[in-house]
Amino acid sequence: MWRGRQGSEDARQPGSLYGNVIAALTAAAASAATERARGYYRDLLERTVRAGTLDHPARYTPARQRVGARSYLRRQVSVDTYACSQGVAEPLRWRGRRLLKGVWDLAIYGQLLQELRPRTIVELGAGPGASALWFADQAIGLGIDCHVVSLDRSPPPAVRGRPSVTYQYCDLEGDLAMLVAALRRRPAATPLLVVEDAHVAIPAVLSCVDAELDRGDYLVIEDSEGKQAELVAFLEKAQRDYYVDNMLCDRFGVNAASAMNSIFMVGPPER
Ligand SMILES: C[S@@+](CC[C@H](N)C(=O)[O-])C[C@H]1O[C@@H](n2cnc3c(N)ncnc32)[C@H](O)[C@@H]1O
Repeated sequence: MWRGRQGSEDARQPGSLYGNVIAALTAAAASAATERARGYYRDLLERTVRAGTLDHPARYTPARQRVGARSYLRRQVSVDTYACSQGVAEPLRWRGRRLLKGVWDLAIYGQLLQELRPRTIVELGAGPGASALWFADQAIGLGIDCHVVSLDRSPPPAVRGRPSVTYQYCDLEGDLAMLVAALRRRPAATPLLVVEDAHVAIPAVLSCVDAELDRGDYLVIEDSEGKQAELVAFLEKAQRDYYVDNMLCDRFGVNAASAMNSIFMVGPPER
């Protein structure tokens, strides 16, 4: 488990891209030919340092402290950069299917899968089916015996020869029995990752998921910029003790990925 401090202290280590950029900007701010150019580099340096400096030292923050807090209702990347992160002319593809995830989302999931090593992933909202396949492929690459169940009211066609991926019909605005069944598929005492990416019936869906989670499980709610009020309401009533994983949410600047303040671990965290 990651236990270090966040922010510029770690990110500025020599050899990291961030550290190299800071060093180059510092040199340019000191030595550029004109005062105007030096001012330009000073400003860029200040913004880059700010981007890598987080105001929380710990990896996990109790979710009720972070979700809804004014200072976290933002992304550190600009709107246009964020908008481009899923691809401009067309989205990414995985195994020929459109993959509706941004570059930071994929990088963060890669980190999470390595650490959590989930034996079961339940995805709400399959889309064209690529994301479930991507999760399953990452798990295979990491040597994790993992089953991915992806629920959708219009499930995509199954992929032949991929028994570890199941696309399952479920109308999340209707009967949630299929969701409960999917969550209960996990082998006893093994980690579960739930990814909410259907964006419907959030209160009912999250309450249903909450009842099935155990300590150490992860719940990621994607595209959650417009769901913050619902998340606050959810956390007020939740049975479990949720913590925001700051290291994952802010890995590329505060809330660079689509899960704004909503990469949750069921706590309390291990000491
Ligand atoms: C954003 S897409 C999912 C993208 C996919 N997870 C990915 O990363 O590529 C949202 C999906 O939610 C599904 N959806 C919308 N309303 C739903 C409902 N009431 N029940 C189940 N799925 C629903 C849509 O059919 C769509 O496939």
